[in-house]
Amino acid sequence: MTHLRINPSILSADFVNLEAELQRIASADAVHVDVMDNHFVPNLTLGLPVVRRIQAVSPLPLDVHLMIEDADRWAPAYAEAGAASVTFHAEAAAAPVRLARELRDAGAKAGMALRPATPVEPYLDMLGELDLLLVMTVEPGFGGQSFLDLTLPKIRRAAEAVRGADRPLAIQVDGGITEETILRAADAGATVFVAGSSVYGADDAAAAITALRAAAVREG
Ligand code: DX5
Ligand code: ZN
Repeated sequence: MTHLRINPSILSADFVNLEAELQRIASADAVHVDVMDNHFVPNLTLGLPVVRRIQAVSPLPLDVHLMIEDADRWAPAYAEAGAASVTFHAEAAAAPVRLARELRDAGAKAGMALRPATPVEPYLDMLGELDLLLVMTVEPGFGGQSFLDLTLPKIRRAAEAVRGADRPLAIQVDGGITEETILRAADAGATVFVAGSSVYGADDAAAAITALRAAAVREG
């Protein structure tokens, strides 16, 4: 069975205590870092200098999610900074194939994200260029929103399209992932789960991570 991964998002962490906040999630698989530029999404978070410091102190690999315009220009530097994976938005990349290759050449896994209303079909022929497809399960920009069930058929179609591929493609979901919703996403074919408020909003983040893992495989 595919290993299911939980990547807590530090968007819901205490930004003035990031080093301690990273330690709270040391039992997770990676730390999800949301970079927002106030143009692609109506919110502003952090950029390369802060990501470099997170990289230096994090006990976990970095899963960088770029919600920024002109991804072609800015994304490779995050791979060069040592991020394990760098995910750009399909809607913000002029040349997604070239960009995915640049990310891999720089030593990162290449990820591409789709907003809830962006179909996967135009990208099916390039999925082999990617290591990760992020199906956004809320409109990107903010933590604490409700999971959009309308994204489930897209997750299913993407999972179906990559079944039996030479190189495995991880399907990641991000937004509204809780103990209540994670099983629906897992059943549809997602294998990597980003969780912000449901992990950092808990008193015991490690227990929240364990509970999400259990809920992702719960039967009937
Ligand atoms: C939203 C971000 C998410 C966010 C998820 O645009 O990409 O990573 O942190 O937060 P929750 O899990 O609270 O929906
Ligand atoms: Zn994210």
